[in-house]
Amino acid sequence: MSARPTVVVTRRLPDPVEQELARDFDARLNTDDRPLGPDGLREALKSADALLCTVTDKLTAEVLSAEPLRARILANFGVGFNHIDTEAAKARGLAVSNTPDVLTDATADTAMTLLLMVARRTGEGERHLRAGQWTGWRPTHMLGTHVSGKTLGLVGMGRIARAVAQRAHHGFGMKVIFHDPYPPPADVAASLGAEPRARLEQVLKEADFVSLHCPATPETRHLMNKERLSLMRADAYLINTARGDVVDEAALVEALTARKIAGAGLDVYEKEPQVTPALLMMENVVLLPHLGSATRETRVAM
Ligand code: DGY
Repeated sequence: MSARPTVVVTRRLPDPVEQELARDFDARLNTDDRPLGPDGLREALKSADALLCTVTDKLTAEVLSAEPLRARILANFGVGFNHIDTEAAKARGLAVSNTPDVLTDATADTAMTLLLMVARRTGEGERHLRAGQWTGWRPTHMLGTHVSGKTLGLVGMGRIARAVAQRAHHGFGMKVIFHDPYPPPADVAASLGAEPRARLEQVLKEADFVSLHCPATPETRHLMNKERLSLMRADAYLINTARGDVVDEAALVEALTARKIAGAGLDVYEKEPQVTPALLMMENVVLLPHLGSATRETRVAM
């Protein structure tokens, strides 16, 4: 038996990471990149010292009840860990780790990408051009919404939201407002040009762009429901790089269809990789396939 700890790696990772894992551990790499599923995850927990898992692995109490349990740690490749039942992990003596900080900039860049794309209709414009429909420049062609100087409302003010505020305020001259039940120190918010609002509802009513940056917890599930979406302005856009669960996708479709909001930029979905079909048909919605942290540099750092 190898003296090195055994690590089951649930998905393909960038080459340098897999090489390091193979050097330092008895690493079982997933060369096929097929999700292990509940049975594979249970088997891994029984046969390895560590599980290097990620957002596509549903580590439920049922899966974590594997017996006899050999694993001691769930090392999550990602900052969000709503796919792990942390109470059940704790009860089983499993440590859980994640990868904050290193993905902050990449994810903030993705939020700004979505915001700019939806405001300036760039997805729609590219589709239009590739379809051979462009007849040439004209003053009234595909007019979008100005971004510079507008108001950005941040829901949550953790690391990623702060990096978005930095870009939006210092880069685009946006006014930034936020709501967070655990706000940053006043001097930190002030350095980002960000003004707190005591109630989420105030942010929703005031903002031209609402960007979600709260974790997915039972409390934040469907935080953006029909009632809260209806508080947003008819010319406002919703941006989500957090987790799909935070938005009631059916209510979002309803709000978009009824033109209660102007558009949405989404990187995450309630039932990934499925996307509510109506969203696929809407030109005023930008849809990315959960690319928040997807840069080579970031994925290696994670
Ligand atoms: C994260 O880090 O949370 C990404 O969304 C992937 O899980």
